[in-house]
Amino acid sequence: APSLGVDVAGIALQNPLIPASGCFGFGDDFLDFFDPNILGAAALKGTTREPQAGNPTPRIAETPAGMINSIGLQNPGIDEVLAQKLPHLATFYHQPVILNISGFSVDEYRECCAKADGRAEIIELNVSCPNVHGGGMSFGADADALAEVTRAVRQEVSRSRLFVKLSPNVTDIVELARVVEGEGADGVTLINTLQGMRIDPARRRPVIARTMGGFSGPAIFPVALRMIWQVWEATGLVILGSGGVARAADVIEMMEAGASAVQVGAESLRNPMAIPQILAELPELMERWQIASLADLVGSAHGEN
Ligand code: DOR
Repeated sequence: APSLGVDVAGIALQNPLIPASGCFGFGDDFLDFFDPNILGAAALKGTTREPQAGNPTPRIAETPAGMINSIGLQNPGIDEVLAQKLPHLATFYHQPVILNISGFSVDEYRECCAKADGRAEIIELNVSCPNVHGGGMSFGADADALAEVTRAVRQEVSRSRLFVKLSPNVTDIVELARVVEGEGADGVTLINTLQGMRIDPARRRPVIARTMGGFSGPAIFPVALRMIWQVWEATGLVILGSGGVARAADVIEMMEAGASAVQVGAESLRNPMAIPQILAELPELMERWQIASLADLVGSAHGEN
């Protein structure tokens, strides 16, 4: 049988499929659909120091090309996540966990990461939420701010692996990835959502209360792929791929570009069975394309064209 196991910065995953942060809640959202122990790992909802109520509604817009969200980091706060959500998850889920941490200041990121260190295999520093002021993208789009926050949390994170989830809403992804690598992060998640909006043409007003949101879904797959490709060429960072993955062929393509594992976001909201279906498709596709082991695919599309 083809081998689905992969390695992410020294953490063994039984397969490369991970629900993207925000698309799996804190682990029990999909229990009616499938056993989460089939997953390679699970990324939990972006967590901040203080509980967040999220943005005013409407905060979701569906479009043929994908979806736009303006959730605004709704979450119960780091203390509740560590004291309640993680222990509850551990009662039914026994695969690696990715804690996504967001913040509005360097101190907030630092405090959350200090508390979270060692409580999950991976801490994913979210510096790329497009939906909040004073946080998110202000760290992910500015090289100096990114260096400062990565350096601060790197000092707090020694037991968990440290990944930084970067924004596609930047001019030079390689510059930012190099900053993160220079500050000692183990890897990057590429990419968060692309800023977008829709207008209700009859009402002549933006669909989303806060006007803009983060655009995800199949349309952003080529953007994610391109950034993974560039960062793989320019750095030695381990890469978690994310952006528009909807089928087994997308997983293989992203790994060939350089991703060590792959997150599924919008597609798993559209179709809760997306990940089990992709997992079922993978062995057949690997056989057809003579791929014995997914782990050997990582970065294999690079070289003479
Ligand atoms: O698109 C996103 N929406 N990306 C994030 O990082 C956070 C999320 C939200 O809560 O708004």
